[in-house]
Amino acid sequence: QVAAASGHTVVLVDQSDEILKKSTKGIEESLKRVTKKKFADKPEAGAEFIEKTLKNLTTSTDAVAVVHSTDLVIEAIVENQEIKNELFKRLDKFAPEHTIFASNTSSLQITQLANSTTRQDRFGGLHFFNPVPMMKLVEVIKTPMTSQKTFESLMDFSKAVGKSPVSCKDTPGFIVNRLLVPYMMEAVRLFERGDASKEDIDVAMKLGAGYPMGPFELLDYVGLDTSKYIIDGWHSLEPNNPLFAPSPLLNKLVEEKKLGKKTGEGFYKYK
Ligand code: 3HC
Repeated sequence: QVAAASGHTVVLVDQSDEILKKSTKGIEESLKRVTKKKFADKPEAGAEFIEKTLKNLTTSTDAVAVVHSTDLVIEAIVENQEIKNELFKRLDKFAPEHTIFASNTSSLQITQLANSTTRQDRFGGLHFFNPVPMMKLVEVIKTPMTSQKTFESLMDFSKAVGKSPVSCKDTPGFIVNRLLVPYMMEAVRLFERGDASKEDIDVAMKLGAGYPMGPFELLDYVGLDTSKYIIDGWHSLEPNNPLFAPSPLLNKLVEEKKLGKKTGEGFYKYK
């Protein structure tokens, strides 16, 4: 959405037409929200902006078929190293020489993903934040193998889509998630110990620390499955780090398919 809105030609790839339809509908709704604010006094210009953006966006279920005409691939699939590696390995065979590969991974090592391809110098991290149309930040990750030219291209692309990039070494969670995920897990542990209710913890962090959402609201917003993948991955890397300890409550909710806002229930229920 943000790439198309800033004039880039985008092909959105997913597994089925049904998912793509749902994504396109989500983008249309989000564009309306953005437009309402951006073109408050100029509804015609707003309608034109939406039309132009949607013209820049096509969809496909066949990544291999579309990658041959792509300058930049941004992967944002399930948070699983093997599945991501397999996708990158396949795309590497069909993408042009100059094409840069980037991962939007929340927690995995970019170096390991890059190693599944033959283009380690044209590979980096491009980590966006939910909801992407609103959050101004992008983390740009340079591995020891990422070329300076690739890094600069990723920084330039981030600015071209209207974001403020920061850079970080290829370390677990980069900057934001390395601080945010342990904080959210500490909130779950506080609740699990019975020290405070989840509602009070959320109110406390909003009113006492000025956060726009409390940790439980944010966990539901990000997705409990994604949060579990992140913490499980880090726990396997550093089993003795108490900040990375898995939570029985989070595991139980994921097992019950209560994944947060997207499934209608997580820590809270949604209509
Ligand atoms: N698309 C377009 N506009 C959107 C939007 C979307 N998806 N979501 C919200 N907005 C707009 C609304 O239309 C509204 O616009 P308005 O000011 O013109 O009315 C504005 O944002 C504010 O929305 P709301 O009034 O509904 O609610 P809030 O004031 O609470 O703002 C929020 C919503 C921007 C999501 C804010 O609550 C927030 O910043 N929350 C924290 C988000 C956060 O921490 N994100 C990072 C998560 S971690 C992550 O993503 C990393 C990953 O790897 C796990």
